[in-house]
Amino acid sequence: MSNLVSPSILSCDFLNIETEIKHFNNVENLWLHLDIMDGHFVPNLTFGIPIIEQICKKTNIPLDAHLMVLNPEFHMEEMKEFGLENITFHFEATNDPLKLIKKFRGSYKSIGISIKPNTPTSSLSDELLKEVDLVLVMSVEPGFGGQSFMENSLEKCQLLVEKRQELSAHFQIQIDGGISDKNVKIVRDAGADNLVAGSYIFKNSPSEYLNKVNSLR
Ligand code: DX5
Ligand code: ZN
Repeated sequence: MSNLVSPSILSCDFLNIETEIKHFNNVENLWLHLDIMDGHFVPNLTFGIPIIEQICKKTNIPLDAHLMVLNPEFHMEEMKEFGLENITFHFEATNDPLKLIKKFRGSYKSIGISIKPNTPTSSLSDELLKEVDLVLVMSVEPGFGGQSFMENSLEKCQLLVEKRQELSAHFQIQIDGGISDKNVKIVRDAGADNLVAGSYIFKNSPSEYLNKVNSLR
């Protein structure tokens, strides 16, 4: 398993994004997590297609887009040439997630599906789990950085590990929200192989960023 860490730039210095992300150049097993919020699927608003396009042009770091938008199909269509490493949309934002994955299968290296804290893993059909490359378990209500970790996400990770084995599926299990050195052990033990962390990494001086990343391995 990949043991990835995905720093979320939601908590970075937005007026200096280029400088902020350079601190993660050439770090192995690291993605940069981009939280795209539309002010509708979630109350908050962040950045969208033009900013993502610029970031993609400026870095070789694998980029991981987390779509918190009402119309993921539109965003997936617009960003398919950007060279993203992974794109994740929300289960709750679509009526037919499998159809969406199949539509963009040839356009993205990896496509993920995310579930909010109140959505059980049983909502994800076996057919869907066999098709998807990543399942993102939200361990906070999506929309804001700096919230407290929700423990019910641990059981979801465990259930997904079992399902993955049962189905001989290949998806990564990513967890997002309230991740820090305080809970890294329990989330890794529960089976999460890709940890997103925003405020834990970026609310420090840049000289600390990589130490924080390493503490989540
Ligand atoms: C929340 C976002 C997260 C957020 C995590 O909706 O999806 O990626 O940046 O922030 P922290 O790590 O501060 O909880
Ligand atoms: Zn996120």
